[in-house]
Amino acid sequence: MKQYRVGLVGCGGRGRQLARYVAGVDGMQLVAAADLTAERRELARAELGEIAVYPDHATMMREARLDIALLGTTGPLHAAITRDLCAMGIGGIYCEKPMACSLADAEQIIADCAASGTVFMMGHQRRWMPEICGLRDALRSGIIGRVTHGSMFWATGRVGSNGTHFFDALNFILDSQPVEVVGRLVHGLDTTRVDDHPGFAARLANDPGGIGFITYANGVRMAFDFMSDVLLPYTYTFCGTRGWLTVCEIDWEVDLRVRDADTRSLTQSWTMPQRTPFSLPRGPVGLAEQDAYRELMACIADGTRPRSSGEDGRVALETIVAFHRSSAAGMHPVALPLPADAASQTLVIH
Ligand SMILES: NC(=O)c1ccc[n+]([C@@H]2O[C@H](COP(=O)([O-])OP(=O)(O)OC[C@H]3O[C@@H](n4cnc5c(N)ncnc54)[C@H](O)[C@@H]3O)[C@@H](O)[C@H]2O)c1
Repeated sequence: MKQYRVGLVGCGGRGRQLARYVAGVDGMQLVAAADLTAERRELARAELGEIAVYPDHATMMREARLDIALLGTTGPLHAAITRDLCAMGIGGIYCEKPMACSLADAEQIIADCAASGTVFMMGHQRRWMPEICGLRDALRSGIIGRVTHGSMFWATGRVGSNGTHFFDALNFILDSQPVEVVGRLVHGLDTTRVDDHPGFAARLANDPGGIGFITYANGVRMAFDFMSDVLLPYTYTFCGTRGWLTVCEIDWEVDLRVRDADTRSLTQSWTMPQRTPFSLPRGPVGLAEQDAYRELMACIADGTRPRSSGEDGRVALETIVAFHRSSAAGMHPVALPLPADAASQTLVIH
């Protein structure tokens, strides 16, 4: 079996976590890590075993003969680092979210990887979570009939930093893409309603909370609330022609209510859906990332497109940009794909 030599770029908390998951994956060997700061390099050396450490991604790539890079850096850096890695012949990149902070950067990443034959995998890990895959399968099987609409809320706001995960997960779960976004974004914490928190206050000052609606190409409508006073776990509700399914990401609690038969009849809409036993498959923390790494190796070997591609990551970012544009226009509906001038809009997303 080929052994893929893996290097970590960016040894912050998330990067080191991504690197630790490599240990459970046959065919992958973590051989190197790079960080701009000596302190982070020391942490990597102490936590990640027998690896070489380097002061930046380019030196690591030159000296460590890598097949795969784990990009644990923040969004504004991904395009430039990807360009360098592609030019130096990297086979595959697993990129932490956000993919980028502008559509121009996301498009550069896609183009550079295409030019060098690099497999780019966007690290929206929900696409590999057994719970999310089980939810997708259940909706596809018609468990609630034809999906018509739904809602989602999440705490700690941040249309960019959190939204990238959830917008992408919904594209995957619903097997569709947004065609229209309506949004109102609100910067900062509402301290009349929630305790002050310096960390989140700073993050929400740049990456706002909000409310909004997305219409998908397949006709599904989703409503969103991620204002700063939402104080409940990440929760999705999907409604269909037979009933509804609510899924809470903490402990993956589910509530399924369905009628015996599907219907198209307006007059049968009053029949109350009944609570019905249902559970989602469960997986340990880190399994999603490890399955992503396995898929990345397979994609490098056979040239297939990963289930979370650069194009998928770009759509999640485009949705975030659309929220900003709709909000700036007073909640005016914004059609997707966005016009070319949206590419240069740069957002603050951690
Ligand atoms: N998917 C998830 O569930 C999840 C969870 C936590 C964080 N994240 C995301 O992961 C990203 C990283 O988060 P973090 O908290 O570890 O960030 P961080 O800023 O603490 O760490 C990033 C590190 O990258 C290093 N770096 C920058 N440029 C470099 C280069 N050219 N070569 C080598 N190293 C370089 C920096 O020195 C820094 O140490 C963020 O964008 C964050 O949103 C995702």
